[in-house]
Parts: sequence; C-alpha cells; structure tokens
Amino acid sequence: MRVPLIAGNWKMNTTVAEALELVRAMKDELEKVISVEKVVCPPFVSLAPVKELLAGSTIKLGAQNLFFAEKGAYTGEISPLMVADLCEYVIIGHSERRQHFHETGDIVNKKIMAALKAGLKPILCIGERLEENESGKTEEVVAEQLSTALVGVADPDGMAIAYEPVWAIGTGKPATGEQANGTIAFIRQNIAQVCGGNVAREIRILYGGSVNSTNAAEFMQQPEIDGALVGGASLKANEFLSIVNQASIIKHSK
Ligand code: PGA
Repeated sequence: MRVPLIAGNWKMNTTVAEALELVRAMKDELEKVISVEKVVCPPFVSLAPVKELLAGSTIKLGAQNLFFAEKGAYTGEISPLMVADLCEYVIIGHSERRQHFHETGDIVNKKIMAALKAGLKPILCIGERLEENESGKTEEVVAEQLSTALVGVADPDGMAIAYEPVWAIGTGKPATGEQANGTIAFIRQNIAQVCGGNVAREIRILYGGSVNSTNAAEFMQQPEIDGALVGGASLKANEFLSIVNQASIIKHSK
C-alpha cells in the first residue's frame, strides 16, 4: 500500500520566527500520526532553523524550488546540493513558478533530473488552466507536462506527483473528489506507459488546490489519491493537523 503523503506548501509566507512558531504549534500532535508521511515546505530562509527544530522528528522538510546547476555564477539561486543538505523533498514545477517565473517544461525537466541526482524526492506539480479545462484539454495538458518533465528520467525513485488544477489553487474552488480521482487515474496510466507498471503502482499522486479540513475527506476517500499538497490551509496548525488526521483515518480504514 502507498503511504499517504500530506505536504504543506507555505509559499512566500512566514518570517523565520513565524515559521518556527507554526512548526512548534503542530509538531507534537503531527508526530502522533505515524501512518501518514508529513512534509512542511517553508521558504528557503527558514529551512535550516526549521530543520534544527525538527531534529529527531518524523515530520519531514521540503523546499519549494531549486535551480538545476550544482554551483556557480547564478546570483540568487539555490542549488540541488544546498537543498539536499537540508531537505528530503522539493516541490518542482508549481504552476506559480510556471506562470510568474516563466518555467518551461524543459526547465522543469532539468530541475527534476537535478533533484533526483542530488538524492532529493521531487514533488512534481502538473495541472491544467481554467480555459484548458473548459475546452476539454485537461488530459492532453497533464500528459504533455508529465512526459516533458520525465524526459530522460529512467527511475523516478521517491518522486511524487501533485495534480493541481490551476483554477483550483488559492481560489477556494477545489475540484470534486471524483474529478480529481479521474485525472489522477489517467496520470497513473501515463506513468505506466512512460516508466512501467511497477513505478505507476508505487508512485504517490496527490491532489492540490484549495484543500482544507472541510473538504479533505472527499479527496482522501478516492482510491487513486494518495494525499494532498496543501497551500493556504497549511499555514494554520489546526487545519494542517486535521487534514493529516483525516488522511490517516480514511486511508487506513480501507
Ligand atoms: P492552495 O494551494 O491549497 O492554497 O490552493 C495549493 C498549492 O498551490 O500547492
């Protein structure tokens, strides 16, 4: 059985002091939930202090991005080696990066390769925009994003995928559990074609986009959905904890 994964994407929120406060507020309770993998992804500047606070904890750390070169004259960038020094996970190809920072499929592919090479577990984000959804292109778009991201990736060991319809991110208008399950099943079939059946059976595919404590159960009840990438609600200790608890109860009652 795939171990459920709930990851909190804090985006560009929290100072170091606020990040530490947020972790302190949920750490003890989160640690009690052992049947779910819990990951927090604070901004880069908080990774080291949060790592220290999480020493010996079952809560894992992720970064929100990286650059693909290992080192060199890339002012302002953070390399896979630097991230791997602190984190186990890294979010790659988030739609906000594709939109605001012009990350192309080719760049996302380079970042995936670099992350895997550094021993990181990428959480690859894919998802269609509203107009693509409305014109029935969802499957075409996610298949294209997936195959581009995986060019040259023989073994995506440890990688997870987050299906995040762009129209559902930060809008308070999530997909339905059924819609998300359908697209995630399609993504899994695609992975079977690209990487083989074993990888497809093992890889965790999350849903992301306006997940909160009220709607989490709807997603966790779906057989193809292995967890969630949570944005806004991950900034509230009680919300994140509730989502993790619901994932644990629902996924392990089946
Ligand atoms: P949201 O963000 O939960 O605030 O919609 C999800 C994400 O962008 O990963």
